[in-house]
Amino acid sequence: MGRTAVLLGGDLEVSRIPGLYASPLRYPGGKGKVAPFVKALMLDNGFVGREYVEPYAGGASVALSLLFEEYVSAIHINDLNPGVHAFWKAVLTDGDAFCARIESTPITMREWHRQREIAASSSASALERGFATFFLNRTNRSGVIKGGVIGGKGQGGDWKLDARFSRNDLIERVQKIGRYRSRIRLSNLDAVEFLKPWMNDSTTSNAFIYLDPPYYLKGRGLYDNFYEEKDHQQVADAVGNLAHPWIVSYDDAPEIAAIYAQWNSIEYSLNYSMGVRGKGSEVMFFSPDISVPCYAPLEVTKEHIAQRRIRALEVATRKAIEPKLAAL
Ligand SMILES: C[S@@+](CC[C@H](N)C(=O)[O-])C[C@H]1O[C@@H](n2cnc3c(N)ncnc32)[C@H](O)[C@@H]1O
Repeated sequence: MGRTAVLLGGDLEVSRIPGLYASPLRYPGGKGKVAPFVKALMLDNGFVGREYVEPYAGGASVALSLLFEEYVSAIHINDLNPGVHAFWKAVLTDGDAFCARIESTPITMREWHRQREIAASSSASALERGFATFFLNRTNRSGVIKGGVIGGKGQGGDWKLDARFSRNDLIERVQKIGRYRSRIRLSNLDAVEFLKPWMNDSTTSNAFIYLDPPYYLKGRGLYDNFYEEKDHQQVADAVGNLAHPWIVSYDDAPEIAAIYAQWNSIEYSLNYSMGVRGKGSEVMFFSPDISVPCYAPLEVTKEHIAQRRIRALEVATRKAIEPKLAAL
């Protein structure tokens, strides 16, 4: 199948990326940056208005961006990590209490140690554990739960642990999610199990599925990785059985390219915010029913999207009008 290489230089300005900061969670390599690409792809392929399904949600930045801008009717977000799931559960079911904690919790090293214990405790409530996960995500380097605290334990660095804890902004993000909660379905399953309903199109509404599994290459220590090598093959097998259009993104490893060889793909580079700002090479695979875009995942601007919206509107109008004209 075809593979397109798109190598990009330079950072995109944040202001050009609508919806990038919709999520309260920070994720290294977070996919907020590809949200404009996903929107353009949805417009080009007539997927607007579908339900959106994300089995490895993490910070769910793409899902939130699509929901807030009305590209999708509902989002199904899933994550196996108990802390990440507790975070979403607390935000969706106990948003006011969550915001009260953002407002009043001291951002100190003493609190950091306390929250670290709560985050690891399976007996803590969803509110306690979800908030602890969020607290560590906002106060640790690059948002990595197991990473060290910003500024170091002695807090001698230029940046202190509160550098990414802008209370008012975070409260606004949580409140906004709360306003959309009737259109957000949350689960805590293994991704392959979670995907089963979408393997049958007669039991599920029209959907569009985006999978962002843990990276193949080990040793990065970015997320909790529940996968051994064979599991990536199992995911690809599940993807092959999906009854709705899908895209999958991965780090560009030869083993992944081999597993997904039968599908179209685009290669691109993504800037990570892990200490050294190097460029990671990524790859995106597409189900056969998606017409693969000629633009790159990080190349899509507001202008691209505006043009595509106009075109999609023209197509929809023509479709609605043509039968009426023919009947005249
Ligand atoms: C690459 S991150 C997703 C990042 C997300 N796309 C974002 O932009 O924030 C992978 C996520 O998958 C979750 N995860 C790992 N293994 C999983 C599994 N077997 N089933 C479901 N979720 C899993 C991790 O907890 C992590 O949050």
